[in-house]
Amino acid sequence: MRYIEVENYEQLSVAAANIIAAQVILKPNSVLGLATGSSPVGAYKELIKKYENGELDFSAVTSVNLDEYIGLDGDNDQSYRYFMNTNLFNHVNIDKSKTFVPSGIATDIEKECKDYDDNIARLGGIDLQLLGIGLDGHIGFNEPDEFFTKATHKVTLDESTIEANARFFESIDDVPRAAVTMGMGGIMGAKKVLLIANGESKKEIIEKAFFGPIDPKVPASILQLHSDLTVIYSKK
Ligand code: F6R
Repeated sequence: MRYIEVENYEQLSVAAANIIAAQVILKPNSVLGLATGSSPVGAYKELIKKYENGELDFSAVTSVNLDEYIGLDGDNDQSYRYFMNTNLFNHVNIDKSKTFVPSGIATDIEKECKDYDDNIARLGGIDLQLLGIGLDGHIGFNEPDEFFTKATHKVTLDESTIEANARFFESIDDVPRAAVTMGMGGIMGAKKVLLIANGESKKEIIEKAFFGPIDPKVPASILQLHSDLTVIYSKK
């Protein structure tokens, strides 16, 4: 594991964007595993800048996102599809038909999950997976549990996750209670993993996840077994 501490969110965002950019430059048809939430917003802004400066070309890139809320369609401004469109895809030359986000409104969620994993396999797996981390140690929406779940699956969100994500909604009652998330098989199958976290509130979970025992009650701890993991943390 490469563990890097930087001074602030701006440095974290630049470092993350540089790693993602290097991946795309070295392999223009990379499959990027992408995340939503507040952690990657700065990195996405940096990637947009690089694209606008002519330093990056996304035309051959494919992306697969980690998760989506159940019940929200892609036009809903709280959906993760909408987040990806507005924070990255609309501003670079990625082919939207090659951007995959699980559907939160599929009538057959089990089939949607299986198809999602089949698609990742068809793409040849993920080259670089970007992750944030929840205060409870979740990655994607793999919440603390008795075991790690391999496949893409439906999850009921933990109360702490619902509270943490309420900041993006008008009221906590509007936060969906369930989501579809890529499982640990998809994440651990990525050739490279980059996890970014910032803020004093994340310090404890970063300690537990990367310097403590590997425990499904701290889902991100499984990443300690990944052979190419980079963690970047900034206190501010
Ligand atoms: C988002 C995701 C989540 C977030 C995590 C941290 O696609 O999969 O695991 O990365 O909840 O969220 P932020 O960055 O908002 O603190």
